[in-house]
Amino acid sequence: MPIPLFDPKPDIQAHWEEYNNAIKNVMKHGQFILGPEVEEFEQQAAEYLGVEHAIGVNSGTDALVIGLRAAGVGPGDEVITTPFSFFATAESISNIGARPVFVDIEPSTFNLQPANIEPAITENTKAILPVHLFGLPAGMDEIMQIAEKHNLKVIEDCAQSFGATCNGQQTGSIGDVGAFSFFPTKNLGGFGDGGLITTDDDETAGLCRKLRAHGSTKKYHNEMLGYNSRLDTIQAAVLLVKLKYLDKANSLRQSIAQRYTEALEDVSGIKPPATRHPSPVNPVFHQYTIRVLNGKRDQLRQKLSEKKISTGVYYPVPQDQLPVYSKLNYELEVSKKMAQQVLSLPIWPEMETGKQEDVVTAIKEFMAKF
Ligand SMILES: Cc1ncc(COP(=O)(O)O)c(C=O)c1O
Repeated sequence: MPIPLFDPKPDIQAHWEEYNNAIKNVMKHGQFILGPEVEEFEQQAAEYLGVEHAIGVNSGTDALVIGLRAAGVGPGDEVITTPFSFFATAESISNIGARPVFVDIEPSTFNLQPANIEPAITENTKAILPVHLFGLPAGMDEIMQIAEKHNLKVIEDCAQSFGATCNGQQTGSIGDVGAFSFFPTKNLGGFGDGGLITTDDDETAGLCRKLRAHGSTKKYHNEMLGYNSRLDTIQAAVLLVKLKYLDKANSLRQSIAQRYTEALEDVSGIKPPATRHPSPVNPVFHQYTIRVLNGKRDQLRQKLSEKKISTGVYYPVPQDQLPVYSKLNYELEVSKKMAQQVLSLPIWPEMETGKQEDVVTAIKEFMAKF
């Protein structure tokens, strides 16, 4: 039996009736745009995350674009961010006319190294944009201290971290703005594209609501250039079902991650991610990503693929090395090295122990040759 990287089907099957009823209800009332489920989901998400406002938009990318603009970032501003993320992170900054400034990451967390932030601050720096990569919160204590000292905004990219906490605080509730994605493979994934912006600030929230609806609060009285970016009612209905089971799903992911780490920590050439953290950090393992230290990552991946085990490489090229930014000639050694070493293993909440054992056995078999 092939082992996928992620399997949405067990969750859908387990809650088949609930999803069906939720979608049927939307068909019955017919309010497909900003229907009652959107507001209901926004309220429940805000309560879950411990924020004043949650605003549904049509993707995580738009959550970043609109969130950045609403936080006051604009043309000419610099935003300090991580090179080791999906392109949407830097793309959103560039698309609003601002400039991403990449600083290197910590190898143990794959997240922004806070010590690298201050040296990169200039008079044009407006914000810091950390990513909670693979569901592991970035070093928010240090990041918030730096932001406060230099009067910078913090926009959290929470595309992979719904439910992850740091000192008991939800990601997306720590900085000025949080941006979430509901892309189907995310740990809170919809049945299509979707996103959410979080903030405690009334004015920022108002601006987000305006920007997602063509710059208007009153239909046909558009006040500024905005976007067509609303969370679909059908997606909100699906997400309301999924949110109910999110804590259980996240804790199943944590158990699977813990089992992987126990099975792989003594395998020579493999570095599993930290699954127990000294500080009160609670990751949600959107991905379980190991490092293959002996230069054999691609060979291992090939071997696993021959055994029909899917894996992911997030990310093979750091953002600063992609064509849009490569002429800037960044030399960020840690992220370059991680791009060569990382390998994400199959994980989804209902993943059977037997399948996990097959993955581990295949890795051990291959690594024993070296
Ligand atoms: C870290 C990160 N930021 C932003 C995004 C963009 O989210 P979306 O695909 O919903 O636009 C993603 C999702 O792929 C992501 O992983």
